[in-house]
Amino acid sequence: MSDATHTWLVTGGAGFIASNLIRHILATRPDVSVINLDALTYAGNPDNIAGLAANPRYQFVHADIRDAQAVHPHMERASVVLHLAAESCVDRSIADPQPFISTNILGTQILLDLARLCPGQRRFVYVSTDEVYGHLPLDRPELSFAETDPLRPRSPYAASKASADLLAQASHETFGQDVVIARCANNLGPRQHPEKLIPRFIANLLRNKPVPLYGDGLHVRDWIHVDDTCSALLALIDRAPPGGVYNVSASNEISNLDLTHALLQALGKGESLIEHVAERPGHDRRYAVNASKLRRECAWEPTRSDWPGALEHTVEWYLANPGWLERAAAPS
Ligand SMILES: NC(=O)c1ccc[n+]([C@@H]2O[C@H](COP(=O)([O-])OP(=O)(O)OC[C@H]3O[C@@H](n4cnc5c(N)ncnc54)[C@H](O)[C@@H]3O)[C@@H](O)[C@H]2O)c1
Repeated sequence: MSDATHTWLVTGGAGFIASNLIRHILATRPDVSVINLDALTYAGNPDNIAGLAANPRYQFVHADIRDAQAVHPHMERASVVLHLAAESCVDRSIADPQPFISTNILGTQILLDLARLCPGQRRFVYVSTDEVYGHLPLDRPELSFAETDPLRPRSPYAASKASADLLAQASHETFGQDVVIARCANNLGPRQHPEKLIPRFIANLLRNKPVPLYGDGLHVRDWIHVDDTCSALLALIDRAPPGGVYNVSASNEISNLDLTHALLQALGKGESLIEHVAERPGHDRRYAVNASKLRRECAWEPTRSDWPGALEHTVEWYLANPGWLERAAAPS
């Protein structure tokens, strides 16, 4: 790896958001080298990082964030840590919360400790989620969560992310550690694991298989294109104060049913392919976070905030990469 002026450590870079983030950093920050540290769990996809190795400013490290010894030498070199590695699937957390406790909570504390104790100064950006706030009712569309609202997570996944979010805040309060927290809305875009709604539905529809929609499908999610999440994370690195907590959202609230209809239309399929399945236990009704603090304090604006445009770009990527989708959707 070449000696650029700065080295940034990205965790979970073979996953969805961080593989896009690494490309974004390498394309926009010529003075930054990236170390991608990833354990390559079922969610870590080698296809997501194919081609990056040719870049002299990129290095892949196959390691688990819970292995302090393995992480240590890479942390020592880093002036910024972007921590995205996580168990990220709500349904899996309902089936078995244990890996979520281990990676998301314990793993984050191990990284926080290393970031604090290794020689040198570094900023630690923890990528949290809007799910830490819990949910909102459908009949109060005027409500959205602000950073000062209490954390009331409702799934094991959300609770593990909220725990790590609080531990990251505690590291700032107790030790004065330079920690910044990004509470991100639902991301869409290229390279998302097909266990998640959009790529899963696209993969199914391409094979004329039904798409499983939980309950009445009226659950509302707050969507942001992954490119906008990437630019928000860089804005936080550049401009957020130590200890800052920021919602990251483009304010695109869409029900799962409307999203499904949009996907059916984009792929020229009929409604008969919608299969209503039993409600997810404790299924959150509506997510909505207010990102005005991020816009105001960090001069950030989303560039893909128009909803049909963000979805079209995403669908086009999956259609243009059928090999990626086929391999990622294949049962492991
Ligand atoms: N996808 C979203 O819509 C969304 C929204 C808000 C917040 N987030 C958060 O953003 C982060 C990235 O989400 P994603 O959807 O890209 O996740 P993902 O599941 O696509 O990728 C997770 C990556 O982390 C790696 N990983 C898992 N456990 C690890 C461990 N113990 N050590 C090292 N690497 C490990 C996996 O191999 C994988 O490459 C997560 O922290 C998630 O909670 C995601």
